[in-house]
Amino acid sequence: MLIVLISVFALLGPVAAQDSAADPRASTGGAQTLEDILARQAGQAMDDSFRSDAIGDPARAAPMTDQLGTLGGVSDSELWRALRYGKADITTQSRGPAAKTLIQDGGMWWLEFRQGPLLTYGSYLLGGTLLLLALFYLIRGRIRIDGEKTGRKIERFKAFERFGHWLLASSFLVLGLTGLISLFGRKVMIPTFGHDAFSTIAIGSKWVHNNISWAFIVALVIIFVVWVVHNLPDRTDLNWLAKGGGIFSKGHPPAKKFNAGQKLVFWSVIILGGSISLTGLSLLFPFDLQLFGPTFAKLNAIGAPGWFGMADLSATLSPQEEMQFAQLWHAIVSLVLIAIVFAHIYIGSVGMEGAFDAMGSGQVEEQWAREHHSLWVDEVTTQKPATSTKEA
Ligand code: HEM
Repeated sequence: MLIVLISVFALLGPVAAQDSAADPRASTGGAQTLEDILARQAGQAMDDSFRSDAIGDPARAAPMTDQLGTLGGVSDSELWRALRYGKADITTQSRGPAAKTLIQDGGMWWLEFRQGPLLTYGSYLLGGTLLLLALFYLIRGRIRIDGEKTGRKIERFKAFERFGHWLLASSFLVLGLTGLISLFGRKVMIPTFGHDAFSTIAIGSKWVHNNISWAFIVALVIIFVVWVVHNLPDRTDLNWLAKGGGIFSKGHPPAKKFNAGQKLVFWSVIILGGSISLTGLSLLFPFDLQLFGPTFAKLNAIGAPGWFGMADLSATLSPQEEMQFAQLWHAIVSLVLIAIVFAHIYIGSVGMEGAFDAMGSGQVEEQWAREHHSLWVDEVTTQKPATSTKEA
């Protein structure tokens, strides 16, 4: 008997050892290993079907009378896994789209990113832009009208164009301010004003932000319609860009109604502003717009993540994850556009003599127009000579 037993163990021994070598999770009884946890924390792509599929098999359930039989053989951890991976059979009274997601795995990295890097890099971007503009002002000073002023005025923008611009500008400034309060408020304002005061400020900011958003969208459509023809790229833009807009040199490269720099501002406002509006709408009507899951699926289909050495993006997002991506995109694109608008406000006001009149009265000094938009002046003065304010 003994000899038979020893030979059986001797034969089975290597097989058992091979099994544990083949199954990296044999030591934890199928649960996560330290390597799994480290890989997940490092954000590496990993097949976690060993977890997502381990949600209990009712067919293999221990009888109710057994020691582990209270859940019909499904252990607590299997139940929690089923909840985490959206595989649990959940019934809720609430019929909202996100009601059945009881554990939301993607929530933690979003929260940490929103509270950490987003605030840090966002403040570097805005602070850095203001610093660069201050430096530019110190080095270059105000861009003056070089030649002798003529005293004659040319109409640059009609009342409706100026209305569109100021509606856009005022709504953007209010949205920017209330948006920054929502993003930075907890960190920056609570320590100074306390929780109670910040609560009132935050509720007010959110109300204003949600309602002013419509004005911004309307203004975006207005300026697109009235200015798009003047912002189509053409050959003069290449020359203008090659000469750096004449910012640091003498003389100004010729330009039509809008120079290449302004065209860049226009398209940034349209594209980034449009994207902010779209994600804003999805935040305003939670769970109604699926923007990111379908976009990720399209990016995966053309292999875009692979270009950056990344694994495919997860295209099946929980309703909350859709909102989290919408929030991050809305905030990041807004921060970039605010930085661009800082530069635009600078050049349209203190940075350049004579520029503000274009949006103030709508009438600009002919000499200013000749220096900055020579081709446009030629075009309009042949149609309609400039009006003189000297004689008036
Ligand atoms: C509140 C401060 C602002 C001032 C003082 C200002 C000033 C100006 C001026 C003077 C122009 C005409 C430039 C010219 O005649 O060539 C202009 C154009 C324009 N503005 Fe503003 N603006 C402000 C805010 C904004 C905001 C917040 C936006 C968008 C979110 C914006 C978008 C535009 C666009 C797209 C144009 C046409 C392209 C360009 O000239 O760069 N502006 N602005």
